[in-house]
Amino acid sequence: MTKKHNIILQPSGRRGQVDEGTSIRSAARELGVEIESICAENATCGKCMVLVEAGRFEKYNIESSQENLSPVSTEERAYLERRPKLLKDKGWEIGQVRLSCQAKICGDVLINVPEESRGNKQIVRKSASNREIEVKPAIRKYLVSMSPPTLERPIADWERLAKGLETSMGLVRGGEEKLPRWYDFDIDYACLRTLAKTLRDAKWNVTVTVRNDKEVIAVQAGYHEDSYGAAVDIGSTTVALYLCNLRTGEVLASESEMNPQIVYGEDVMSRIQYAIDQPDGLEKLHKAIISTLNKLIKQAAKSVHVKLDEIHEMVLVGNSTMHHVLLNLHPKDLGLAPFVPTIHKSVDIKARELGLHINPSGNIHILPTIASFVGADTSAVILAEEPHKQDENWLLIDVGTNAELVLGNRKRLVCTSTPTGPALEGAHVEYGMRAAPGAMERVHIDETTLEPKYKVIGVTGWNTDHAEFTGQVKGICGSAIIDSVAELFRAGIVDSRGKFKKDLNSKRVRQGESGWEYVIAWKEETSIGRDIPITQQDVRQIQLAKAALFTAARTLLKRMDLQSPDKIILAGGFGSYIDKEKAMLIGLIPDCELDKVYAVGNAAGDGARIALLNIEKRNEIDAVTRKVERFELPTDPEFQNQFMLATSFPHMSEPFEHIAHLIPNRKADPLAKNFMK
Ligand code: FES
Repeated sequence: MTKKHNIILQPSGRRGQVDEGTSIRSAARELGVEIESICAENATCGKCMVLVEAGRFEKYNIESSQENLSPVSTEERAYLERRPKLLKDKGWEIGQVRLSCQAKICGDVLINVPEESRGNKQIVRKSASNREIEVKPAIRKYLVSMSPPTLERPIADWERLAKGLETSMGLVRGGEEKLPRWYDFDIDYACLRTLAKTLRDAKWNVTVTVRNDKEVIAVQAGYHEDSYGAAVDIGSTTVALYLCNLRTGEVLASESEMNPQIVYGEDVMSRIQYAIDQPDGLEKLHKAIISTLNKLIKQAAKSVHVKLDEIHEMVLVGNSTMHHVLLNLHPKDLGLAPFVPTIHKSVDIKARELGLHINPSGNIHILPTIASFVGADTSAVILAEEPHKQDENWLLIDVGTNAELVLGNRKRLVCTSTPTGPALEGAHVEYGMRAAPGAMERVHIDETTLEPKYKVIGVTGWNTDHAEFTGQVKGICGSAIIDSVAELFRAGIVDSRGKFKKDLNSKRVRQGESGWEYVIAWKEETSIGRDIPITQQDVRQIQLAKAALFTAARTLLKRMDLQSPDKIILAGGFGSYIDKEKAMLIGLIPDCELDKVYAVGNAAGDGARIALLNIEKRNEIDAVTRKVERFELPTDPEFQNQFMLATSFPHMSEPFEHIAHLIPNRKADPLAKNFMK
């Protein structure tokens, strides 16, 4: 019998066992992951390059290494050795890269399929919004003209420049001074080292770039009007970067990519664990994000012909784990009681210290963290949505593999976080996938016939609008998973406790390999040659995720003595694509008037952009975050009971009046009393 080995493909999270001797590319295809090829697997196009992760991966219980693949063939070696520059540009080492069409599996492996090799590129749903932002950047440019030094007035170059700068900034009257005096400015050391030459080459006419009207970080010959900065949202799954003109505030280019750390763990807890378990774990995570940031900034700058040296500032946001890993701070205390970050305050650091390839003297500003799992991304969401300026009580929810929630108004803000798991993003659901062409994104079930219709990313209209619909579907993404579960409940296929009814007259409801399931797409409609069902296990995953989120929201409402929020704001890509009525129908979000539920897209990215373009906003968010009250859910004595109540659709005891018309036959659950103490 042929031996089988485990293969795990990231960032898709697809995993399975394949026969020994199968090529990585074929194995990936078996598992529903397409890898590019334009040379018919002849080892000549390099489109199929993948990275082999080495080390022990506790989560999957495997030891992955190059030794678990067939030796590098002559053709493969010839291809890789011809491209040292390509590998260097991508930050890959030759011992790490394989051509997936050539490398055969002979042991367990964890493979990272980089964006450029993926057959179906993910649609990264993070674009900059059109918010009005008052432009008051920390980085400003001043044109300074000086008279050259003379024997009569031998003032040093720096003091001469500082004096001219004062005049250009309108701080003093101008005029000549005979004796040197000290100024309130500082000069970056790297800039100081080249100052004498720059001033002389420029014949004493220079453009000076100043940070916070305090520190000179660049001196350029002649006149330069624009300076540039980048705002970055480092999500656990996706990294989104916006390159902006700091003078006009315009977004010049947006770039995004999957977070490469995903190969070390899908969620923040598994990445913390990886950093704890592996001696070089933190270093690997840190290097992975720095190299992605460098790649994105380079792409963005190149696309609009901006030199990297002209980028003088970056503002970065991310959850507390991303924040720590970015700064190379060990994240272990974030995951252990009493759950404290290394620093709350915002951080300013030189680009060269982090190895970020903008102007080396440029500034990297990282927004403050609020709690162990409420990070700088939540600070950015607060900055963008401004609940601290409202009379009404707003509930902000940022959903990813972890959900962060902030509730309150101008008088008081409270926050918490909860792991929701990857199910809401399409992972750990049997046919779940990320939002990419071929993924179902909408599902509707007719409650009389129990027949479904669905929409697929990349295909117009519903499947039923097409006379013949074959071969387009590959899996189900997050928004369609919410739809499917809500529709199964609304159509009476699963009951309020999430259990399949077994006596229904539909061939779609059947006993599958892993229990009861409902088939949404028959195999003829799919590109994977298998039926695509939603299984009992999938419904359970969603129940756990939504119970965690609802319990967190309820805990905050209770702390604020509220029954429901006045407004719900769903931040993040996930919030933008879910159907809010269906999200409420399954009890993912608290009961609220539906037209008071808003999706605001990538608010964390917007908050980063606001902080990049307006220095006063950095002070504002520093002040606001210091006053946010934090609650850790596990310490709440009611948590367990409330969680159990919240596992039902929409909830075991809450009335959910605003979606009551969708479930007219709803009955009280006798089990509820066991958890209502
Ligand atoms: S498919 Fe072309 S090199 Fe592998």
